[in-house]
Amino acid sequence: MVQVHSLNISPPLINSSCAWASDYAQLRELYQCAEIGAITTRTATLKGFNQDETHTVAFSNTSVTTVNSYGYSPHPLASYIEWVYELLTSSGARLKPVIISVTDSDPDKLRELLSQIQSLRSRLRAVSSGHDGTSDLSRFVAIELNTSCPNIKSKPPPAYTLPLLKPLLNVLAESFYEDGTLTIGLKLPPYIYLTQFSDLVDCLAQYSRAGDKEILTIPFAFLTCTNTLGSSLLFTDQVLPRSTTPSSDVQSSFALPTGLGGLGGDAMHSLALGNVYTFSQLLASSEDAAVKDIKVIGVGGVTNPEARKRMHAAGASVVGCATLLGFKGVEGFKLLSQ
Ligand SMILES: Cc1cc2nc3c(=O)[nH]c(=O)nc-3n(C[C@H](O)[C@H](O)[C@H](O)COP(=O)(O)O)c2cc1C
Repeated sequence: MVQVHSLNISPPLINSSCAWASDYAQLRELYQCAEIGAITTRTATLKGFNQDETHTVAFSNTSVTTVNSYGYSPHPLASYIEWVYELLTSSGARLKPVIISVTDSDPDKLRELLSQIQSLRSRLRAVSSGHDGTSDLSRFVAIELNTSCPNIKSKPPPAYTLPLLKPLLNVLAESFYEDGTLTIGLKLPPYIYLTQFSDLVDCLAQYSRAGDKEILTIPFAFLTCTNTLGSSLLFTDQVLPRSTTPSSDVQSSFALPTGLGGLGGDAMHSLALGNVYTFSQLLASSEDAAVKDIKVIGVGGVTNPEARKRMHAAGASVVGCATLLGFKGVEGFKLLSQ
């Protein structure tokens, strides 16, 4: 069992945000999967992402690796709000936390996304006493801000450029200072040199302040490391036939219609481990007690039980995966639990 602010994640294994956590049927199947202690939705926006045939995924034919050109979910946040309400209030299933992944590069739109999630949490609080008399259901909902999708044209992942990220962190911080029960995390991209990590930790530390009883608190309860590695390329002879997209143009030898996409799975496991390790070390060595308390969710190339163990050894409190889910469905979590 791992406590991440208001979330109790047991076992500490989750799906990370991805195309296979997109609709209600997929989320319900994940929610009912006994091997995972929390679920994460695909990244939602206010109006839904305009998805077309250029947005897809290809599966490597030599390892558990993917390359994908997806943007965000075509479903708007309003759909996820209703689905999450249904999952948490429908009787029968064991209660587990739901991490709602959201994004927008516009601080005002992010504020609106947060306000919709806070309304959901108010509704959940209102029905909690009648539920099983003990649990405050609002504490089962967390927000993960996706700061790291590599596939959005003319919108670079803000976590690579602090002046783009800070206005978004300010909005998250505002919400947290108003309601300290809110659990907030950041989905980060893979970083490749030390000052990228230390600059981010220094930036987060600026939001630490004394809360109730003068105990230091910080708006950010967890960092999910990492998203896919952008600008990656696979050719059609490197991927499974079911994942190739027929194309008549000159670039038809690329596995993705866009050519470039985000790399996930075995091929980026070492980089993800390095990111988890570096953040864990930096957070642990902080002199600020609130920064020390930030948890790392390790994601990237977790495709077998050994990789899951390596993530914990590198410093992850909770471990997640996406590519394995794409290859094997929820059965993948049984494999990780062996
Ligand atoms: C098809 C696909 C879609 C994804 N969509 C999202 C998304 O909507 N939001 C997000 O934060 N990460 C998304 N990811 C990234 C994953 O959550 C994860 O960070 C990354 O794939 C590395 O983990 P893995 O090696 O287990 O795949 C996606 C990954 C894949 C493969």
